[in-house]
Amino acid sequence: MLASLTFAVMDLRSGLSLILMFFEWVTHGTVTDHVVLDACPGYAAQAVVVKGPKLTADLVLEGKACNVFGTDIESLKLEVTYETETRIHLKITDPSTMRYEVPQSVLPRPGAESSISPKTAAIRFNFTASPFTFSIYRASTSEVLFSTASHPLIFEPQYLRLKTNLPTDANIYGLGEHTETFRLPTHNFTRTLWSRDAYGVPNGTNLYGNHPVYFEHRTTGTHGVFLVNSNGMDIKINDTSGTTLEYNVIGGILDFYFLAGSETDPTELVRQYAEIVGTPAEVPYWSFGFHQCRFGYQNFVDVANVITNYSVAEIPLETMWTDIGDRRLHVQTPDISVDPDYFPLTRMREIVDYLHSHDQRYILMTDPAVAYLPGEGYGPYDRGTADDIWLKAANGSFSLGAVWPGVTVFPDWFNSEAQDYWSNEFALFYNSQTGLDIDGAWIDMNEPSSFCNYPCTDPFAQAVAMDLPPARTTSPPDPNTPIFTNATSAISKRVDHSGDNVQDPPYAIANAAGALSNKTAYTDAKHANGLIEYDTHNLYGTMMSTATHNAMLSRRPGLRTLVITRSTFAGAGSRVGKWLGDNFSDWEHYRNSIAGILCMASVFHVPMVGADICGYAEDTTETLCARWAMLGAFYPFMRDHNADTSISQEFYRWPIVTQAAKNVLDIRYRLLDYIYTAFHQAHLDGTPVLNPLWYKYPQDPATFPIDLQFFFGDSILVSPVTEENATSVSIYLPNDVFYDFGTLAPVQGHGSNVVLDNVDFVSIPVHIRGGGVLPLRAKGAMTTTALRETDFEFVVAPGTNGKASGSLYLDDGISISPKTSTKVTMSYEEGNFTASGSFEYATGVHVARVRFLGVSNAPHSVKLNGRSVEEASVQYDSAGKVLDISLGISFDSSFNVQFN
Ligand SMILES: *[C@@H]1O[C@H](CO)[C@@H](O)[C@H](O)[C@H]1NC(C)=O
Ligand SMILES: *[C@@H]1O[C@H](CO)[C@@H](O)[C@H](O)[C@H]1NC(C)=O
Ligand SMILES: *[C@@H]1O[C@H](CO)[C@@H](O)[C@H](O)[C@H]1NC(C)=O
Ligand SMILES: *[C@@H]1O[C@H](CO)[C@@H](O)[C@H](O)[C@H]1NC(C)=O
Ligand SMILES: *[C@@H]1O[C@H](CO)[C@@H](O)[C@H](O)[C@H]1NC(C)=O
Ligand SMILES: *[C@@H]1O[C@H](CO)[C@@H](O)[C@H](O)[C@H]1NC(C)=O
Ligand SMILES: *[C@@H]1O[C@H](CO)[C@@H](O)[C@H](O)[C@H]1NC(C)=O
Ligand SMILES: *[C@@H]1O[C@H](CO)[C@@H](O)[C@H](O)[C@H]1NC(C)=O
Repeated sequence: MLASLTFAVMDLRSGLSLILMFFEWVTHGTVTDHVVLDACPGYAAQAVVVKGPKLTADLVLEGKACNVFGTDIESLKLEVTYETETRIHLKITDPSTMRYEVPQSVLPRPGAESSISPKTAAIRFNFTASPFTFSIYRASTSEVLFSTASHPLIFEPQYLRLKTNLPTDANIYGLGEHTETFRLPTHNFTRTLWSRDAYGVPNGTNLYGNHPVYFEHRTTGTHGVFLVNSNGMDIKINDTSGTTLEYNVIGGILDFYFLAGSETDPTELVRQYAEIVGTPAEVPYWSFGFHQCRFGYQNFVDVANVITNYSVAEIPLETMWTDIGDRRLHVQTPDISVDPDYFPLTRMREIVDYLHSHDQRYILMTDPAVAYLPGEGYGPYDRGTADDIWLKAANGSFSLGAVWPGVTVFPDWFNSEAQDYWSNEFALFYNSQTGLDIDGAWIDMNEPSSFCNYPCTDPFAQAVAMDLPPARTTSPPDPNTPIFTNATSAISKRVDHSGDNVQDPPYAIANAAGALSNKTAYTDAKHANGLIEYDTHNLYGTMMSTATHNAMLSRRPGLRTLVITRSTFAGAGSRVGKWLGDNFSDWEHYRNSIAGILCMASVFHVPMVGADICGYAEDTTETLCARWAMLGAFYPFMRDHNADTSISQEFYRWPIVTQAAKNVLDIRYRLLDYIYTAFHQAHLDGTPVLNPLWYKYPQDPATFPIDLQFFFGDSILVSPVTEENATSVSIYLPNDVFYDFGTLAPVQGHGSNVVLDNVDFVSIPVHIRGGGVLPLRAKGAMTTTALRETDFEFVVAPGTNGKASGSLYLDDGISISPKTSTKVTMSYEEGNFTASGSFEYATGVHVARVRFLGVSNAPHSVKLNGRSVEEASVQYDSAGKVLDISLGISFDSSFNVQFN
């Protein structure tokens, strides 16, 4: 049905029935023939003006229009700006009508630095005037990084196509959210971007969030390409006639940033990307503790028991989460007080008080969809209606969906009143004196998801049919409800969709949900500022994220927030974290979670990320859960979460999982200040918190596809067992020195695979990369509050050059702008270790010891700050080559340890 509709529209528009033979429609998405697209006339560059760092030109259609998915636009405007030494901004727009562009309010972009000269830039723009094609090349080597040669630009109202040539077997990363391999396939591969409630996160499909950026790595360097566009799109990578990457976009403009990256250090590129999308938000210290959650805790007693059981099992539980409770009664956003029998407010408040008095935390889910309950005295609905903040249908009525509470409305985050509404709802419902005093926020279903099948002409009937409670078949909203009156006319004038088919555009992206409006808000739904969902759909989750972050900030001014969202767009990480959605309790999802967290943390700058540990849907097994508890301890965001119909999977439910969790939480908590420091650095300059192996070994092609191992921070190599029932794993060790995290003994890597045997179900292989100094807590603790009272120890792991360095950042763990902080730099060379820095934030703890790894001989003498250390404080293990020096000094000033 979809295909024939699309067909008719195209036929009408172009009248070129000949061309139609070259296209066929599959269930999801349009298949194009590259021969046909490459035969399009393209454009000629005219009136080229170069003025300092800026080039402008008119692009004029050069020949007979091909009108593949609409009418070719005759004349376009090209604008190329050298914004920094490492960044070129290229825009192609239609000057005759105002087309949609991603609003600066959602993704603020940096401007150009002054006095940038193309002559000194690291990458350069080059073009051919007729037909217009362009390339971006690396100035130092003239290596071409991006080239549209022989692929004409196509620019139609609802179809933009731009295609670049790539090297054979190109190493492409990013273009998420996805569940493919971390290095993307280059054969017959389509990545679709259109936010979708993607149960089971199937690979090959569009998922919750959208980050239209890719990094390409070559042994000669790493560069990046970011397309700022929130419309639906297919990005196709193929290798049948040369390797190519092709954007097929159904709206907006072509708005590219090309990033030079670096010839030697891939993480330079990561920092350059942060200059556009922002560096990641710092999160509270406590949020690195372990989180337990599930959908389907039946009542408050159930919740209390889980807390007790963790305590009895002596597994550290930092935060208790609740998902939606009883489906029949639960009315979301943010109101579960309607469920007095299962989760009575007074008893829930008791639980939250209990958690807080034990230095533990509480988080509850909030969804955007608000129950549509006119005239029933339902506060969240009535207040939103009074403020007129709901998303509107094309005819001006409320845009209705069907979500857990039944028929729902959606907040319109573009409405200028929406933030106040949302902050007020958070202040009311999550009031610390009278409501549920949450410590962080969890936001879900914000694609936005609706269970209503397109066409959702009767959400009431669909809600009843889908047993979405409570069924309230009141009359639809008054068509005369005044719509938001002061919509900003500037934008509504700009975007002209008359003549567009926004429900079934001529080019159908490969949306796995089928129609664009299926299971979500309609694409013609209108925002207060005149924009429509067709353009802004992919921004909804990120805008809710910002509103929720702000609402949490106004509850607790000055304090960092933990907001975990499902849907994201580029830039979301500067405010919120993310979990990878509804995965399954199986080994494939266990494995592909690593690529998932690497994409988010290492490419997209959403480092507070994790997958649901032990798996969300379906039943886990004892050994999967044990292995996953251990892998998950190296997700920045560590949460066990489960679906309502699955067997229970709290860690204490099996002896092996209990032991695995205790072992690995001890490691994670000891490393907590190390990862906290990495987050601080990420916040300062965009340095990645997680690293794929190739970031550290960019010259070693064997590392390029690796996505079953990764670096947690700079120095911790995590190599989990990846197969069911296996007790061995083949891991890749680059040509470098490593140290076993458990024994601390050196392990020389040779750029080859090594099989580790006898990895029991309570252990995970972890190595320290040579060259680092780890600031560890001497032991783990049951809460992060207790952990902060635990002494430090330093582990010095020299690299092949005999040197090591590291850093430690400490502050109160919660303030956005802490009054004081402690910054320590650790360095080591030839028996000489120094920790120095500023110590304004009082740690209140001691340095228990320093451990030097890879020490060949017992030392003759050891000195602390120039004074001999007594023999009893010095231990040397010749088998493991570990020199262990107990110090017991207050950690409030610089110190130096020397041995020879
Ligand atoms: C720029 O493009 C022209 C035309 O394609 C080509 O001849 C020239 O070599 C290019 N210059 C560089 C530095 O790549
Ligand atoms: C994608 O899913 C298929 C089917 O489950 C599986 O065979 C394949 O290995 C998966 N690919 C990746 C990259 O995970
Ligand atoms: C490309 O992939 C599609 C969808 O997975 C498949 O139907 C088609 O046969 C593949 N074509 C080629 C040339 O591999
Ligand atoms: C890749 O190219 C082949 C051959 O032209 C084509 O059949 C296939 O559809 C292309 N795949 C994608 C994803 O564009
Ligand atoms: C929109 O109009 C309302 C009422 O007329 C006013 O209170 C509000 O401040 C206006 N908002 C903006 C952004 O102008
Ligand atoms: C909407 O989604 C449902 C469930 O995935 C599917 O069965 C239906 O065919 C889709 N409808 C359209 C119009 O895409
Ligand atoms: C793992 O072991 C369990 C229990 O013996 C068995 O049921 C399962 O089939 C095994 N899985 C694989 C992949 O061998
Ligand atoms: C030890 O290292 C510190 C810091 O790098 C340096 O200032 C000092 O001179 C070194 N001492 C010796 C004896 O090398």
